[in-house]
Amino acid sequence: MSERLTQEIRRRKTFAIISHPDAGKTTLTEKLLLYGGAIQLAGAVKAKRGRAAAVSDWMDMEKERGISITSSVLQFPYRGLEMNLLDTPGHADFSEDTYRTLHAADGAVMVLDCAKGVEAQTKKLFRVCKQRSMPIFSFVNKMDRPGREPFDLVGEVEHVLGIGVWPVTWPIYRGATFRGVYHRVNKAVHLFDPIASSAAAGSQLVAVTVTGRDDPRLREELDGEGWDRFQEESALLEEAGDAFDRAKFEAGEVSPMFFGSAMNNFGIEPFLDSFCELMPPPPPRASSIGPIPPDLEEFSAFVFKIQANMDKQHRDRIAFLRVCSGRFERGMKVLQVRTGKPLRLANPTQFMAQERTIVEEGFAGDVMGVYDPGVFEIGDTVTGGKKFSFEEIPSFAPEHFSRVVMADPLRRKQLKKGLEQLAQEGTIQLYRPPEGREGDAILGAVGQLQLEVVQHRLENEYDVKVRLEGMACEYCRWVTKEDGSALTNDELLQFDRLRVGIPAVDVRGRFVVLFGGDWQWNSAKREFPTYRWTETARGDATKKD
Ligand code: G4P
Repeated sequence: MSERLTQEIRRRKTFAIISHPDAGKTTLTEKLLLYGGAIQLAGAVKAKRGRAAAVSDWMDMEKERGISITSSVLQFPYRGLEMNLLDTPGHADFSEDTYRTLHAADGAVMVLDCAKGVEAQTKKLFRVCKQRSMPIFSFVNKMDRPGREPFDLVGEVEHVLGIGVWPVTWPIYRGATFRGVYHRVNKAVHLFDPIASSAAAGSQLVAVTVTGRDDPRLREELDGEGWDRFQEESALLEEAGDAFDRAKFEAGEVSPMFFGSAMNNFGIEPFLDSFCELMPPPPPRASSIGPIPPDLEEFSAFVFKIQANMDKQHRDRIAFLRVCSGRFERGMKVLQVRTGKPLRLANPTQFMAQERTIVEEGFAGDVMGVYDPGVFEIGDTVTGGKKFSFEEIPSFAPEHFSRVVMADPLRRKQLKKGLEQLAQEGTIQLYRPPEGREGDAILGAVGQLQLEVVQHRLENEYDVKVRLEGMACEYCRWVTKEDGSALTNDELLQFDRLRVGIPAVDVRGRFVVLFGGDWQWNSAKREFPTYRWTETARGDATKKD
């Protein structure tokens, strides 16, 4: 068995694609599936407004807005490997789910628009990847269009994101027109032919192997200007002199960069080749008893996402599990560590587009949805029997805040229940006023859309109509004393008295302070210089660890 385990683990690549909306994440995802043979027709991953029904549009709202709210998990074989692609919502209104999905991934592909470079959402998502030191590939997309200077883009990624870049392919031009890419490792030239590329799905376009950057055959493809430019640029790259450092890549310190056009199927093949070679298999995962290696015989997994209402007819909840070790078997009995109760994992499902398939087995790196009768919470660990917990998925600082105002005071109980359940499920962050302070519940979201989802679900599932009143808060921070211990309720109320922030308590009993802006935030730090502030929260205030 252990030999099989090792083999299966080695075949797995679990990753996410991160990008700012419109950079081409969906198009690249489609092309990956197309190359992997998982779909016959590109265009099936996400339908936008006005197009045919979308495959990951599970909820009505998603359909109405033509966007994908919830991250879907796409599993497909590619060249003998098992790809687990965690698709993160690319809309500007992305949600905390996006961050949590990244927590389940072992690596990421960052897609940049060649004309725009690093954008706001790229930065946010990148930060989460960086926190986990995961390997990151960069794909500069839309090269068929005019864009920024390639060196400019490299410099921006290095300076803005703080990661080294090692270009594997480098764009070449005839005059100002993009002509293709030079593969620095394979010494191959991939010529761009927009008509042939899009027709042949790219894969049938043969790369020309050249002896190096001085090869006369390369010269033939470029004009004088393009040739001079290429010589100059490649000399600069060589001067940098460093060979690709795999260890630094695996530690998330250097990103291999590729240039291409997802829409035209160009430059995807060289990217995929390197991806298959370099992307590491599932690594050990941190837990309460130390790192859990993927080839540990004992089965273990954690819940990184809970999705309600995927299927209106069944009104079921699906908990998404990321397997971390051992072998998962359909219908197996596991221990839910938080509650200490045994559980049977019923109907384990994998998702490919709209289709759900029952899975018989899984290994580290695999992701599957299991039926959740309402017992799971985000971050829950399940094991074959051993009692340990994986590192908690942090709560990320929200950027949008709303007060919940009830339309019908008689449904207060249902509202409380609904809000608490939605918060436990991880749909939203919920803050209550501390003891001794009157006020409505406050919702905090990483993306505006989460607030709309809550309003919609409260009405549809709990029959409670609410009005959400936006608050002029810019951010919130979790607060503790210098030694990490909790403040007393009275100490928390100080923020209110001094008017340097709105004190609140999160769903796990941890203390949070909401700030209107920098002025308040700076005043709070001045008033309480010894307090510790964090942007993400882990742990439970009631736990003594
Ligand atoms: P996203 O998921 O990151 O939001 O981006 P998506 O793939 O949906 O791409 C955004 C737009 O950019 C799409 O155009 C898509 O066709 C286009 N695009 C993607 N890759 C390339 C590329 O390599 N070159 C060029 N020129 N365009 C590219 P759209 O007009 O919004 O939608 P569509 O109707 O064309 O699909």
